Amino acid sequence: MDSVSALQMLLVSSLMVQTLMVASAGNFNQDVDVTWGDGRGKILNNGQLLTLSLDKASGSGFQSKNEFLYGKFDMQLKLVPGNSAGTVTAYYLKSQGSSWDEIDFEFLGNLSGEPYIVHTNVYTKGKGDREQQFYLWFDPTADFHTYSILWNPGHIIFYVDGRPIREFKNLEQAGVPYPRNQAMRMYCSLWNADDWATRGGRVKTDWSQAPFTASFRNLSANACVWSNGVSSCPSNSSSNRAWFSQKLDSSSQKVLKWVQKNYMVYNYCQDANRFPQGLPVECSVRNMKQN
Ligand SMILES: *[C@@H]1O[C@H](CO)[C@@H](O)[C@H](O)[C@H]1NC(C)=O
Ligand SMILES: *[C@@H]1O[C@H](CO)[C@@H](O)[C@H](O)[C@H]1NC(C)=O
Ligand SMILES: *[C@@H]1O[C@H](CO)[C@@H](O)[C@H](O)[C@H]1NC(C)=O
Repeated sequence: MDSVSALQMLLVSSLMVQTLMVASAGNFNQDVDVTWGDGRGKILNNGQLLTLSLDKASGSGFQSKNEFLYGKFDMQLKLVPGNSAGTVTAYYLKSQGSSWDEIDFEFLGNLSGEPYIVHTNVYTKGKGDREQQFYLWFDPTADFHTYSILWNPGHIIFYVDGRPIREFKNLEQAGVPYPRNQAMRMYCSLWNADDWATRGGRVKTDWSQAPFTASFRNLSANACVWSNGVSSCPSNSSSNRAWFSQKLDSSSQKVLKWVQKNYMVYNYCQDANRFPQGLPVECSVRNMKQN
């Protein structure tokens, strides 16, 4: 190959990477369907913004058009402002069937000025009971913040504005099921859960404040798309592919510890009363060799 065609190759391949990256910076019109809520979910600004609303008659929700087997999902959310007690804004990945896998972010509203709770859970083969809950270090209703789910063969990591708040490792070697063969779709919704969400259900939704509205923007899914039983991942050389082998390096581990020490308000692994038979295996296995 002469140097001119080598240069052309280089240009073409950098263009391809560029295109992939642009394609992954989402447009809600292309990437999702508003699936319920009878007009309460709206795609605005040429696909750049999506709002969900909730009133006494109904909430609303949307889902990704694609299903995925592994990916890094980033989205910016601005949560219901003011008195949001009783409302839940959910952002999660979920597969189908009775033995489903699921990775959840749920934002539990509160009275004006009282803190939201970020509720997280991981289901494998239809079994959850792995809740961890956090307060945030900012007001999530004042502006958009980025909430991310990383899901690769070795790790599930939840991030808030790039800071890891929770990690669920692949501990199949210790007998803990790990989501790795069921494709998941991304879902978001806003609904009423005043039977449990705020102070354990003691604070009810104030319907005089309705409609409640949460906003979503800038969805990016760097992910392996699942279609007809085949998973297509970004090519290995693509710079979009770093998430596939990503794990927490030592400085991210420190951030995770900082968040957990200062902002975690519930951890199933510390709730011995709930598990009289003993804590789940993943709570005690720490340094196993990773897959
Ligand atoms: C709501 O505020 C109360 C009082 O500050 C707090 O105990 C609770 O954790 C907050 N969040 C939720 C979702 O209940
Ligand atoms: C949108 O998301 C991308 C990638 O997640 C990020 O680089 C970019 O800064 C975000 N845009 C805005 C306006 O925040
Ligand atoms: C691409 O990455 C996958 C998973 O990391 C690996 O199994 C495969 O061998 C890689 N292919 C190439 C051509 O490097």
